[in-house]
Amino acid sequence: MSYFVTGSMGCIGAWVMSHLVKRGEAVISFDISEDRSRLNMLLTPEEQTAITFIKGDLTNAPQVTATVLEHGVQHIIHMAALQVPFCRANPVLGAQVNVVGHLNILEAARKATLKHVTYASSIAVYGAADQYPIEPVPHDAPQNPSTLYGGYKACNEQNARVYYKDYGISSTALRPYTVYGIARDQGMTSDPTKAMLAAARGENYRIAYGGVGQMQLASDVALQFIACADQASEGAHVFNMGGEMVSMQQVVDLIQAVVPNVQITFEPTQLPFPRGFDDSALRQHAPTVYETPVAQGIAHTVEQFRDLIARGLV
Ligand SMILES: NC(=O)c1ccc[n+]([C@@H]2O[C@H](COP(=O)([O-])OP(=O)(O)OC[C@H]3O[C@@H](n4cnc5c(N)ncnc54)[C@H](O)[C@@H]3O)[C@@H](O)[C@H]2O)c1
Repeated sequence: MSYFVTGSMGCIGAWVMSHLVKRGEAVISFDISEDRSRLNMLLTPEEQTAITFIKGDLTNAPQVTATVLEHGVQHIIHMAALQVPFCRANPVLGAQVNVVGHLNILEAARKATLKHVTYASSIAVYGAADQYPIEPVPHDAPQNPSTLYGGYKACNEQNARVYYKDYGISSTALRPYTVYGIARDQGMTSDPTKAMLAAARGENYRIAYGGVGQMQLASDVALQFIACADQASEGAHVFNMGGEMVSMQQVVDLIQAVVPNVQITFEPTQLPFPRGFDDSALRQHAPTVYETPVAQGIAHTVEQFRDLIARGLV
């Protein structure tokens, strides 16, 4: 069994590879970046020898297909994407990586006669909070993305449905909200994790937004993606990840419960998203839902950062 992981040098991708390697699986890493700094926080250099590293560009269709074919890939876990600020700064490149790249993955699966693809979508496919009278927002509530990034993700979900209808390639997508934990260092919602790192360093930090949202631990998110790949269910599935709805004040209190002598503050502005999304469809589908309580996840992340700082890995 080999797992092809795109965006493997990113936060969730590195966590996916870390769990797979620790489980003894063969892993093909595919990322345009060769910067292993996130991976180095999760796996020792010895553990990383179990991985086949490919410097690859998702927008290069022949390279994506050739890599999948050459390495006897059986599972695709597609994480690579440009996040909200990068898509806003460069919309065409955003579409090339996030939309055409996704199609290149589906095409590679088709050419390799794979039956299933697992990929990352996002709650950014939904619209602004005032469009949804019910919270948590039901799984089947209408989509109305307010960012290019959300529009690309919505397009990917539709394209995956068509690949199932036309070619019988099944897929499972998860829509995380705010992923936090070791290695979460870029993107619009990375600030809570940056505050945890600052606290671990004994530094103050001001988080750029506030309000209430759902937070999912990067390790849990990675385990859920792997479980989707292993389950490989027939159909074109998309699931909200759900979880606790927490206020930024609660996040700050939880960080300061571990490190009381730093000042963590936040801007009051709520993100342009509803406060929570219903994950009952995922709960019906998946045998296991990985959901470390936020209090435990934050405390553990701060401790992990302290350890990484001591070992010179952050
Ligand atoms: N982090 C979150 O809170 C969150 C929330 C919802 C959805 N998601 C989705 O989950 C996935 C993983 O997110 P993340 O936080 O790990 O992202 P990340 O930004 O940390 O990592 C993305 C990775 O994709 C790689 N990449 C970019 N362009 C590429 C290309 N052309 N070819 C190959 N690789 C390329 C980057 O080098 C990077 O390593 C993404 O699809 C993201 O949209 C993340």
